[in-house]
Amino acid sequence: MAITPETQRWDRLFAARTRGDVGEGIAAVLAFLGMPNLISFAGGFPDPRTFPRERAAALLEEFAAAGESTAFQYAPTRGLAGPLDALASRLEVLQGRRPADDELLITSGAIEALELVCKSFLDRGDLVVVEGPTYLGAIMAFRGFEAEVVAVPMDDHGLEVDELERRLGDGLRPKLLYAIPDHQNPAGVSLSRERRVLLVELARRHGFLIVEDVAYRELGFEDDAAPSLWSLAPDVVVQAGTTSKTFFPGVRLGWAVGPAEVSAQLVSAKQNTDQCAGALGQRLFEEYVRRGWIDEQLAQSRSLYRRKSERMLAALERWMPAGTRWTFPKGGFFSWLTLPAGGDANDLARRAVERGVAIVPGSLFFPDGRGVDNVRLSFSLVDEAVIDDGIERLASLVLS
Ligand SMILES: Cc1ncc(COP(=O)(O)O)c(C=O)c1O
Repeated sequence: MAITPETQRWDRLFAARTRGDVGEGIAAVLAFLGMPNLISFAGGFPDPRTFPRERAAALLEEFAAAGESTAFQYAPTRGLAGPLDALASRLEVLQGRRPADDELLITSGAIEALELVCKSFLDRGDLVVVEGPTYLGAIMAFRGFEAEVVAVPMDDHGLEVDELERRLGDGLRPKLLYAIPDHQNPAGVSLSRERRVLLVELARRHGFLIVEDVAYRELGFEDDAAPSLWSLAPDVVVQAGTTSKTFFPGVRLGWAVGPAEVSAQLVSAKQNTDQCAGALGQRLFEEYVRRGWIDEQLAQSRSLYRRKSERMLAALERWMPAGTRWTFPKGGFFSWLTLPAGGDANDLARRAVERGVAIVPGSLFFPDGRGVDNVRLSFSLVDEAVIDDGIERLASLVLS
């Protein structure tokens, strides 16, 4: 952005924490993404075909006909009793542990759960360990609270927990460790069972809190989910969850569940963010869960995303030049591509847009400039019919 007297004026007034840098090159690439007719592997949005339009409309009519006021009124900060109960039962079924009433709260999306954790735990300069790569929104949230963000590498089995242990042994002292153990964004891999057990032990031994983001947990292609970190160690884990990928993001609804003292602190922080998550979304979600509709929708979503993932992986196999590697997701929305030696993903992203294809360069997902030769490919939103064409176009640019 050009420096003018106007921008200087605002820069003097903006808070110091707003000065975090996303990188001009990346901002330039992202600016293209709104272009029409792009074959987009960029955004991590759910496919609108999964949206429950008719059922949502029917429920609204029911609420109105029944003279219900709860759905239209302010809600308690922790959440409405009915939706909290429905969510607790769901966590019990899906994760094998029912949270106590004072452990769970409903948030305005997972991103708000992260914001509340930041607000409750982070002072300027505090250390947060993340997976490298990790979710951009989380890096931004931690940076927004002026934390120092350090990435520990991942491999095909998730975070390299032995490397984390080594660094802790060398004196690394994080307050928080943020992880996305299932179908990670952006890497598309999951943390192995063995590493989950080791990770929670490290948290206990070294006294940090694990922030577990389960955004894609329910979107596995098979029924073989490993135990959640929260179910393994509810004493050292706060879990942030979302209904954005399993219900629909228009309601902005998620949860946080953790030790009672932590949960109380998050509720207190929420009082002066949005005071409460929208009651309408809470009630819609409650009915969805109680009537079993969420499970029907999930089954359809999982098979849709599985099909799209298979198409994209087959296209990668067919078109990508030798030396290109990618991950094989077993759920979620993403595969993570590594370009042949010397590859520059920022440059590739710019040239891809000119050929009508959108991707996100990997450096966006690291706090430290790594990921120059990586690309995040999302298969969730792209039209199935153009996946092959899009990957062929992208592949033709990789070595040129
Ligand atoms: C890992 C991860 N966490 C959280 C979110 C945001 O969730 P919500 O829509 O509930 O704020 C996303 C969305 O892209 C995500 O990928």
